[in-house]
Amino acid sequence: MLVISIAMDENKGIGYKGALPWHIKEELKLFKANTLHQNILMGQTTYDGLPRKLVDRHIYVCSINKEYTVDDEDVTVIYDLDAFLKEHENDEEVFIVCGGASIYRQSYDYCKKALISFVKGEYKVDTYFDCFDLNDWNIIKEEDHEDFIYRELERKENE
Ligand SMILES: NC(=O)c1ccc[n+]([C@@H]2O[C@H](COP(=O)([O-])OP(=O)(O)OC[C@H]3O[C@@H](n4cnc5c(N)ncnc54)[C@H](OP(=O)(O)O)[C@@H]3O)[C@@H](O)[C@H]2O)c1
Repeated sequence: MLVISIAMDENKGIGYKGALPWHIKEELKLFKANTLHQNILMGQTTYDGLPRKLVDRHIYVCSINKEYTVDDEDVTVIYDLDAFLKEHENDEEVFIVCGGASIYRQSYDYCKKALISFVKGEYKVDTYFDCFDLNDWNIIKEEDHEDFIYRELERKENE
């Protein structure tokens, strides 16, 4: 199963100059708790922009560039994202899609669950989760935090 994990502001903003537009410790803790000991998927831009190594997770990093490699046993480079999504969309094993914008856009229709921090306020951003539509989802869990509302969503069945 493919699951989205994302934080976005009130304008669906998710990034600025290759990094997160905000620094919300509680949100980062939640991201860690949700992704620890899981398989996570991210684009090369997001991976290379990580401020530090994400330990205790297996990271699938997407790149179209066949010469792009990562020398780390906890990382697998994916050169064909579409094949990866098709292979794992109905898997029992969970793969958490962790961005950035281009990977969210290409994965959106394959994801049956989403873990979203709705960050309060509007930030200066240059990257959006523009494909997101709340009408596609049922809310199954909601938690109010000081700087964000965390919601777990399940994709609505086709009517
Ligand atoms: N708010 C959040 O929760 C959140 C989470 C994650 C990221 N972000 C933000 O999102 C921004 C980055 O997003 P982005 O769209 O610029 O970059 P990205 O999605 O992280 O990475 C884009 C790269 O992924 C590779 N890629 C894309 N499509 C592919 C495909 N079909 N097959 C194989 N590889 C593929 C390409 O790498 P190559 O160029 O090497 O081919 C492409 O340049 C940053 O600001 C980051 O902080 C926000």
